[in-house]
Amino acid sequence: MQMKPGKLKSTLHFQFWVSLFAFLSHRSVPGKIMEQVIKEIICKHLDGNEVIRNSQHGFVKNKSCQTNLIAFFDRITSLVDKGEAVDVIYLDFSKAFDTVSHDILIDKLGKYNLDRAMIRWVHNWLDNRSQRVVVNGAKSCWKGITSGVPQGSVLGPVLFNIFINDVDIGIESTLIKFADDTKLGGVATSLEDRDIIQNDLSKLEKWSEVNRMRFNKEECKVLLLGRNNQFHTYKMGSDCLGKSMAERDLGVIVDHKLNMSQQCDAVAKKANMILGCINRCVVSKTREVILPLYSALGRPQLEYCVQFWAPHFKKDVEKLERVQRRATRMIKGLENMTYEARLHELGLFSLEKRRLRGDMIAVFKYLKGCHKEEGENLFLLVSEDRTRSNGLKVQQRRFRLDIRKKFLTVRVVKYWNKLPREVVESPSLEIFKNRLDRHLSGMV
Ligand SMILES: *[C@@H]1O[C@H](CO)[C@@H](O)[C@H](O)[C@H]1NC(C)=O
Ligand SMILES: *[C@@H]1O[C@H](CO)[C@@H](O)[C@H](O)[C@H]1NC(C)=O
Ligand SMILES: *[C@@H]1O[C@H](CO)[C@@H](O)[C@H](O)[C@H]1NC(C)=O
Ligand SMILES: *[C@@H]1O[C@H](CO)[C@@H](O)[C@H](O)[C@H]1NC(C)=O
Repeated sequence: MQMKPGKLKSTLHFQFWVSLFAFLSHRSVPGKIMEQVIKEIICKHLDGNEVIRNSQHGFVKNKSCQTNLIAFFDRITSLVDKGEAVDVIYLDFSKAFDTVSHDILIDKLGKYNLDRAMIRWVHNWLDNRSQRVVVNGAKSCWKGITSGVPQGSVLGPVLFNIFINDVDIGIESTLIKFADDTKLGGVATSLEDRDIIQNDLSKLEKWSEVNRMRFNKEECKVLLLGRNNQFHTYKMGSDCLGKSMAERDLGVIVDHKLNMSQQCDAVAKKANMILGCINRCVVSKTREVILPLYSALGRPQLEYCVQFWAPHFKKDVEKLERVQRRATRMIKGLENMTYEARLHELGLFSLEKRRLRGDMIAVFKYLKGCHKEEGENLFLLVSEDRTRSNGLKVQQRRFRLDIRKKFLTVRVVKYWNKLPREVVESPSLEIFKNRLDRHLSGMV
């Protein structure tokens, strides 16, 4: 989103904070704290003026890997469902954080109207920091260190987002980012469609030259979706981009049919390995020991971004559930019970029910919570005053294909609309979760 001139009132209180800290501590402000203060001020300024574009989901409040995947693939699956061919280009910057040019970054900070004194501080901080890093790395070169924002620092990610913010300018396809992880998707049915994508790629190539942040073209891959896909070859500069049947997208394996089997295999394998470890390394198999270990180490593997990649096939649903079956069977005294009895005894839901719960929580956040802004693009409310409905009824959108039918924004509607009014109208997320759990416990 572009800057709104009316909101540019937050002339920064930089000098005030510096003075206050100096006063309180009777000396110059320690680096880490100063960094935190500067970060707060910059973030406030960026939020207030809506500087960072909606396409950025990394290091931004109220956004995550999952909001990125859902926003992007909601669009992609709806196009595929309409019968379009769709090409998705996974762009790979080569060492993005390390190659941020300080001069260009400082220039951009100026364009976004940040306080001059602060910009000077940031400039010094960047230059001095990269020198230190290089010295610690036992390299002798002192000169010419003019690039790189430290990724592990407080301020680095914020500065990176500012640097990459304008990569969208002029792009016609759908572009979305998580920090430097950038992908581009668009209709690729006709020749004209594919030209648009190709033009976008040329614009990105241009951006990369101007900003001196190179693409690792061998790692940029094209995922081709849709029945009538022409398997077009795209170019960046003189290099042809490779095609792919499945790509790892923010840690999730996405294949060209959004068939989530590979992802299910991968996470089940990983979670099983972790269970194996727990089984071998932990002597006491009491529920007080096993349950927290499983919940903290095993289960998160099976649920990371799962609202995006929820399994479509019975066989995959079973595969995931088997992990939790095994985990609960490891607990001493429960070995001879059925899975259902073990879950009941431990007060757990099956993973399948947890996914339904997670879906409902996701919808709540999109309609009423921290993802409301995102939600406006994903869900349409039905305006009707029938007393039977729960007051926040969502419109069921049309679909033809499984790729769409199984996608979060479509699959949740019939469950959400059936939730009791009391649950849906919860005033906060915490209360919603409590009421939802009570409601789900009553379900078989
Ligand atoms: C960074 O280095 C410059 C030149 O060596 C120095 O003047 C400045 O005070 C340093 N800034 C910080 C924040 O350490
Ligand atoms: C889904 O993917 C798996 C593994 O890649 C494959 O074995 C399976 O046949 C696919 N299912 C469908 C319906 O395409
Ligand atoms: C479970 O069943 C096995 C075999 O029937 C038996 O030896 C064992 O004692 C039982 N364990 C418990 C906790 O009931
Ligand atoms: C994030 O979500 C909270 C809670 O809904 C909201 O108050 C806040 O304005 C949101 N912040 C941004 C930057 O969207």
